[in-house]
Amino acid sequence: MRLILMGPPGAGKGTQATKVADHFGIPAISTGDIFRANVSQGTELGIKAKHYMDAGEYVPDEVTNLMVRNRIDEPDAAPGFLLDGYPRTTAQVEELDGMISFTGHKLDAAVVLTVDADELVARLLQRAQTEGRADDTEDVIRRRQELYTKETEPLIELYRSRGVLVEVDGMGEVDEVTERVFAALDIIPES
Ligand code: AP5
Repeated sequence: MRLILMGPPGAGKGTQATKVADHFGIPAISTGDIFRANVSQGTELGIKAKHYMDAGEYVPDEVTNLMVRNRIDEPDAAPGFLLDGYPRTTAQVEELDGMISFTGHKLDAAVVLTVDADELVARLLQRAQTEGRADDTEDVIRRRQELYTKETEPLIELYRSRGVLVEVDGMGEVDEVTERVFAALDIIPES
């Protein structure tokens, strides 16, 4: 099973990713989590990424694409994977297409979580109080939302045109959303 999980900042991608990936026995690969781990370890990748992340900007495609390529090449991703937060640009879509077709597989589904704008802001402001993530300040949240609207939201139509889009209502309790994702995905035949 090869899946991508999309949605605006605060939609619940990270929250749902591990649950869905566990269900299918595949790794959840979160580009945001990998970047954050590298930032906290002070690696070369983390030093490159931090400046962009703190400003709410996307890390450059060439850096992100190489990181995902290396991660997908690891043995645990051979049976499939769930990508949380990748691709976010058309250049990343093209790169992912190449990575998947090289292995002779196809993308099974692009799941997009839809959540009301007010609820998104409420979730991120709540997290700002409890977790103190560097990019959960008001200005940076606004920039992340703008960038999502400009660069990533158009990809939804692209995946719809390919017939792989699965839209899931991301409002409500976490477990309710998980059940909706399962119900939507279990009907898609595995490649
Ligand atoms: P990333 O970490 O992916 O940030 P994001 O896309 O802004 O998404 P969030 O993590 O804020 O939200 P989410 O949808 O995962 O929701 P979550 O489950 O956390 O990326 C961070 C940065 O890394 C980017 O800004 C960029 O700089 C860089 N980056 C990453 N990928 C990149 C790429 N492909 N290209 C270039 N740069 C890239 O939930 C949010 C909150 O809501 C949590 O507190 C959670 O507990 C809560 N919550 C979740 N579900 C519910 C629910 N149903 N009800 C109530 N609360 C809920």
